[in-house]
Amino acid sequence: AKSSAASDVYKRQARPQRRCDRAGAPKRRRTRNSMSILPIVKLPDPILRQPAEPVERVDDALLQTLDDMLETMYEAPGVGLAANQVGITRRFLVVDAGNDSDEGADEETAQRNPICLINPEIVSLGTVTRVYEEGCLSLPGVRVEVERPTEITVRYIDRDGHPRELDADGLLATVIQHEVDHLDGKLIIDYLSSLKRSMIVRRFKKLARQA
Ligand code: NI
Repeated sequence: AKSSAASDVYKRQARPQRRCDRAGAPKRRRTRNSMSILPIVKLPDPILRQPAEPVERVDDALLQTLDDMLETMYEAPGVGLAANQVGITRRFLVVDAGNDSDEGADEETAQRNPICLINPEIVSLGTVTRVYEEGCLSLPGVRVEVERPTEITVRYIDRDGHPRELDADGLLATVIQHEVDHLDGKLIIDYLSSLKRSMIVRRFKKLARQA
């Protein structure tokens, strides 16, 4: 998911980096501490259409990738990033939808709230929906109004390898659904008519040829 002009949640910067889900967790020995910005895969790269495979174990390489994805997401800036957007067809993603009270928060009070979800599975969807204009770091410049449930429950493995369940609403629920779509090879343009979708795909194919 990419930042939206409608909210400043995405513009938070210069905040101390806190690795996701680490609060209160025992310190983990790391072989590497540096984080890197990863290249983001763009349409029409076929990897975006490939359903991702489950993660089999949480190891140091995965933790490093999660940290790199967070760094990449903040730098973009964006509010979510799925593994296939950085070229990895495994089921994990990172999100940061800020605080619950994000609607009126200014940059001074805004805090980072990174969450890493491994093998996420949306186990329940609320009946109330809303339409939200979404962007995507793999489709720069494209905005699509997508209708999704406002409340979800997602089960996932956290970065300590523990199963977790999270009830999410608002922006966080929207972003998690957007990123889980990515892991299934689905993009926001799939919510458009096939005519509009093919126009956008053609435009990106042309851009890729020119690059
Ligand atoms: Ni996206």
